[in-house]
Amino acid sequence: MEDTQDDEPGAFLLVNDIPIHFSEDWDTGIGGGLWSTGLAFAQYLEHRSEDVLVNLRRLALVKKYSASSTRWHGNYEIDRNSINDDNSNERLHRHEIKEFNGISALELGSGNGFLSACLLALVMSDENSNIPLTELAITDMKDHLPLMFKTLKANSHVWDTLTYDDGEHSTTFDGTSPGNTTRPVERPMQQSPHVILAEHIWGEFESTNINTKTNQLHNKKYDFIFGTDLAYRNSLHDSLISSLLHFSHQHTLCLIGVTMTDTQPIFFDRLTEEGFRYEKLADHLLEREFRGGNFGLIAIQRR
Ligand SMILES: C[S@@+](CC[C@H](N)C(=O)[O-])C[C@H]1O[C@@H](n2cnc3c(N)ncnc32)[C@H](O)[C@@H]1O
Repeated sequence: MEDTQDDEPGAFLLVNDIPIHFSEDWDTGIGGGLWSTGLAFAQYLEHRSEDVLVNLRRLALVKKYSASSTRWHGNYEIDRNSINDDNSNERLHRHEIKEFNGISALELGSGNGFLSACLLALVMSDENSNIPLTELAITDMKDHLPLMFKTLKANSHVWDTLTYDDGEHSTTFDGTSPGNTTRPVERPMQQSPHVILAEHIWGEFESTNINTKTNQLHNKKYDFIFGTDLAYRNSLHDSLISSLLHFSHQHTLCLIGVTMTDTQPIFFDRLTEEGFRYEKLADHLLEREFRGGNFGLIAIQRR
């Protein structure tokens, strides 16, 4: 796929003016290239950044104040006028978020690391540095980890510390080291998410890995779970849903990009059977090329 922006040499995409660099490598396997919903999701982050930031802040509010409204809000301008039972929107505006506990995020089936790099850019671009994302775990099967690491290394300007667990060794890197990619925004270290790159095979939670970070990754709940083109075969549905169940708590928001021609309706039936509810974000929130029914961003939550 060609670079999509001319303004930043070599940038694949700009998220709030922060360049994200990416080179596909299909030799890696099925996730070595960027799938269409991966691009649709990235462009949603790019063009709807304020909506996404507000939703992430809302997750932190839910944690702190048990606010009642936790569904993914597609259009912030509309929601701002319609919800006010817990004062949460007012708090969102007053940027009180700095006092909140952080939220954690998990990408499933990342393949290439691109989408997580875009999310990190979005968080970093927040002018008030008040998205309390403290941890981002980026996962796939072991054979995809080197490409994911390559993408994250090419974008060290959007993270501060990253632990890469290749299955044998766990090494922590410093994104602020001299020689790394240029940082567009200086932020206090304590407000930057720690990034963990490690294997997670859906439905498998018993880790034989001796690395503590990877074991921690498998033994916790996440506030935001995301991924694209994951449910592309019926045989994957049960293990994927079992990971969603394992890693989610009552208020977790999952945002999953789906290609409808690959993902059969039975996936949604299985989600419902397992106690989730889901909602497709309105088509107009996606870029024009992804509208019309074949691509969708699906917000999934426990009932
Ligand atoms: C169609 S690719 C999508 C890659 C990327 N998310 C994108 O949209 O460009 C599906 C990804 O899911 C991963 N995957 C498939 N089955 C998996 C499983 N059982 N456990 C973990 N990852 C899996 C593949 O390795 C691959 O990276």
